[in-house]
Amino acid sequence: MSLLNILEYPDPRLRTQASPVTPEEFTDGLQKQIDDMFETMYAAPGIGLAATQVDYHKQLIVIDVSETKDQPLVLINPEYTPLDDEWEMMQEGCLSVPEYYADVKRHTRIQVKALDRDGQLQTFDCDGLLAHCVQHEVDHLRGIVFVDYLSRLKQERVRKKLIKRQRA
Ligand code: NI
Repeated sequence: MSLLNILEYPDPRLRTQASPVTPEEFTDGLQKQIDDMFETMYAAPGIGLAATQVDYHKQLIVIDVSETKDQPLVLINPEYTPLDDEWEMMQEGCLSVPEYYADVKRHTRIQVKALDRDGQLQTFDCDGLLAHCVQHEVDHLRGIVFVDYLSRLKQERVRKKLIKRQRA
């Protein structure tokens, strides 16, 4: 396994739309990519990582929101639907936006449909941290970063702070 380089905001590659993983693409190469993404996420440390963040533009996400870091979840070609009209605010961070946290409003309860690492369809309902995490990571695959939901002023502040940090 190897650690992957994580793109940092405002890198324009974070705006790339990821394409679906096709059945022919379930290869050893994809398995290695998944393992490398887990290694990178756990090392960071983080609770979720989308392929977009490591400059791999396929609809692939790895997540582990467990305290014990032993519940790896792979979501390929993920889709979600809200289960009701409830929304919830939660503080979010992102490995592509280091040392910055802000409240983001997301659907409280969602149903998730995605393929697992073997290409099998998995469907589950979730809420709380996992629901926020899935919505945050699916955004990445669509080229959206959580700071996009903040005010213009805050976005500008984050952008300046990170550009300064990247130069240092
Ligand atoms: Ni993120």
